[in-house]
Amino acid sequence: MPHVVAVAQRKGGAGKTTLAANLAVALAAEYKVALVDIDPQGSLTQWHAIRMTRTDAKPLTFANLSGWRLTAELDRLKRTHDFVIVDSPPQIDTDAKLAIRGASLVLIPIQPSPPDLWAAEGTIKLAAEERRPAVIVLNRVPPSSRQKDILAAGLADRGIVPMRATLGNRTAFVDAFAAGLGVTEGAPRSSAAKEIQALMREILERVG
Ligand SMILES: Nc1ncnc2c1ncn2[C@@H]1O[C@H](COP(=O)(O)OP(=O)(O)OP(=O)(O)O)[C@@H](O)[C@H]1O
Ligand SMILES: [Mg+2]
Repeated sequence: MPHVVAVAQRKGGAGKTTLAANLAVALAAEYKVALVDIDPQGSLTQWHAIRMTRTDAKPLTFANLSGWRLTAELDRLKRTHDFVIVDSPPQIDTDAKLAIRGASLVLIPIQPSPPDLWAAEGTIKLAAEERRPAVIVLNRVPPSSRQKDILAAGLADRGIVPMRATLGNRTAFVDAFAAGLGVTEGAPRSSAAKEIQALMREILERVG
């Protein structure tokens, strides 16, 4: 059964595009994956343009979509792929709502900072209104810090259980992205790659 994974979070710079690209690349090792950019900023589209210049990167189906075609195009991609991963803008506009509505899972990256958590609450609420399962992914997590503990307490207070797998603050994510790659390609033995693999396995468990 095909799965649409929408990466959404109103807070800018939380890690949506990094997560979408890396997850798509990791899944593409075993599954047919389409990656969709619905953010007018087009960061993922730029990443893909760099990727297209490489000869060593596995080709991915890629689409930059917006507006009235979005729902129909997502449905079309679902018919020919196992996973459709959607990267959304840092505001929940009409397109982001449509992506959430069409998603089998909504991933909400947050960094250990109060504004990220507050913004995530809005995204969780929206996914709940659309009756879509949503889960927090902790990104740029330091090995140990006061902010990390505060975040854990804040999540627990709200009854939110994040993904077990978390992503650290790692240059491998920045370097791979700049090269049009995922960390599992650009730095396969890195901690970043292990984190993405663990996250992918947990997502596979969730979507069954
Ligand atoms: N785990 C990480 N380790 C190191 N750098 C990271 C990590 N995650 C994201 N970044 C960096 O943080 C910045 C923002 O990440 P990204 O573009 O993925 O966020 P975003 O949520 O898509 O932003 P926007 O809301 O603008 O679309 C980028 O420069 C990215 O390289
Ligand atoms: Mg982005």
